[in-house]
Amino acid sequence: MCGIFAYTGGRNAKPILLEGLSMLEYRGYDSAGLYLSDQGVTRTPGAVTELRAKATGESSAKSGLAHLRWATHGEPTEENAHPHTDCDSNVYIAHNGIIENFNELKQGLIARGHTFKSKTDTEVLAHMIEEELKADKSFEDAVVDTLKKVHGTYGLLISYAKEPETIITARMGSPIVLGIGKGERFIASDATPIVKHTKKMVFLEDGDIAIVTPDSHRIRTLKEASVDRKEEEISWDVGEASRGGYPHFMLKEIFEAPEVLENALRGRLIVNEGRAKLGGLESVAKQLEKLDRLMITACGTAYYAGLIGEYLIEDLAGLPVEVDVGSEFRYRKPIIGKKTAVLAVSQSGETLDTLEAMREGKRRGALTLGVVNAVGSTIARETDAGVYNHAGPEIGVASTKAFLSQVTVLALIALFLGRARSLSEEDGKKIVKALMELPELSKKVLAKSDAIKALALKYKDARDFLFIGRRYSYPVALEGALKLKETSYVHAEGCAAGEMKHGPLAMIDNKFPTVVVIPMDSVYQKTLSNMIEIKTRKGPVIAIATEGDVRVAEIADDVIYVPKTEEQLTPILSAIALQLFAYHFAAEKGLNVDRPRNLAKSVTVE
Ligand code: G6P
Repeated sequence: MCGIFAYTGGRNAKPILLEGLSMLEYRGYDSAGLYLSDQGVTRTPGAVTELRAKATGESSAKSGLAHLRWATHGEPTEENAHPHTDCDSNVYIAHNGIIENFNELKQGLIARGHTFKSKTDTEVLAHMIEEELKADKSFEDAVVDTLKKVHGTYGLLISYAKEPETIITARMGSPIVLGIGKGERFIASDATPIVKHTKKMVFLEDGDIAIVTPDSHRIRTLKEASVDRKEEEISWDVGEASRGGYPHFMLKEIFEAPEVLENALRGRLIVNEGRAKLGGLESVAKQLEKLDRLMITACGTAYYAGLIGEYLIEDLAGLPVEVDVGSEFRYRKPIIGKKTAVLAVSQSGETLDTLEAMREGKRRGALTLGVVNAVGSTIARETDAGVYNHAGPEIGVASTKAFLSQVTVLALIALFLGRARSLSEEDGKKIVKALMELPELSKKVLAKSDAIKALALKYKDARDFLFIGRRYSYPVALEGALKLKETSYVHAEGCAAGEMKHGPLAMIDNKFPTVVVIPMDSVYQKTLSNMIEIKTRKGPVIAIATEGDVRVAEIADDVIYVPKTEEQLTPILSAIALQLFAYHFAAEKGLNVDRPRNLAKSVTVE
């Protein structure tokens, strides 16, 4: 999820590139770089301010590439910053995405004498194109033949020193927008840095490769030499463009669910063995085998993901799990033995209470693990081992896509631990299959956004909400309530459906709606009884139910249906529905959904 920007035309490229790059900075990056044909590459940790300070020389180049990195493979250092180049410094590449088979490609290239200067997956592409060019292929053929050997996702910018006017760009999974000006072309990962120069754009499709010069562009695929892609005249301003046309980042990020789920799963499933392959845990595999207890610690939404992790890991791996919020764990004198691991779940990797809880675990001798989104963050650096989310930067203060990713990664960890313990191959395969279906199923929930908006409108005057669920849906109910209260400032309370009768039921009347998370699972009948108890007290009910469940529709006032999946993975689909509900409810009130009052994205104080 890096930011990329390229220019080719009649003007001086350097100021255009630096300005464009700074407009992409809103996503929060960790390192930056620039390639200009007359100056070569300038790279630095930090972002555009640091890059400007470093790229001091005068340049008259009329084309170039710029990149903002959000690290995935390799720490955010100067060497790992893009653009990357080949052995002869002829080919320059800026990349947004992940090359899955880079390791095997890299071994082959090293064996054939190539020298690598970075730890990134991207650099292999520069060396592969170098080889193709040495086989006397054209720039275009060299790129096409290289991409034929690559698996993974990419939004690519490629420059060749011998043809400085031409930039080749390619899209697979990571967005590419081409801006068409008079005698100039712009290429970027989103429309933000382009709108200032031109509103005429082409949005590349997956598999597209564009050969771009100042006056022309031809779009092709690996198979076809030319394909038609329509030019669009967009009416967005800069703010809208940075949100990809969505009114808020929160909605944009909810809609990133399919990609986020793909990114969490990519390269991590061994289908025919029903296993998960987690490279980040390999170094501690022996210790994990001997583990007798796992303590998960996290804050906010990440804590609720942790609670789902508890159900998953106990269910699939038979390993006792405890979950605690960071601010409690660190002060409660946790009992930690030699076979205890402490797992910190954190999007930012910087939340102070989670970090200190993890450090407390370490002081007491635990093996420390992390499920972290921000590569190179403090928690990622200080834990013994861990798994990255690769969910990309999250801008909305209320966490959405990171939660989906955290639950997915925890499911992978449960599968990983489970197959090393008691989980049968057959049951492992069931989970693997269901995980692979998730990205597609998530699209079906997203398709209900308008219907959910209508529902949010219907309930817009309610000041209180109860959210209930059982087993896997219990933490989902807690998270659904948190999402609603933090974005809308209404009172929303989550509780275990079985606990309702021990207090919350007293609040219920015809003005107090309850959201019942009730997938068709092993506790369905029991949740159904709770739903009836609410209806008996005249409480309005919104049910999040499994497609085809007619029974629920007879009882509830409103139903949001989500597709069927394995019980362990229902939280992901139900959560998307609840995220959409919270978003529309708050947006209808005209609130600042992306920055709720009194809250911060990263809480680095106690
Ligand atoms: C803040 C954010 C939440 C997030 C929590 C934990 O409260 O507003 O969205 O869940 O911090 O953040 P982390 O970065 O550790 O996941």
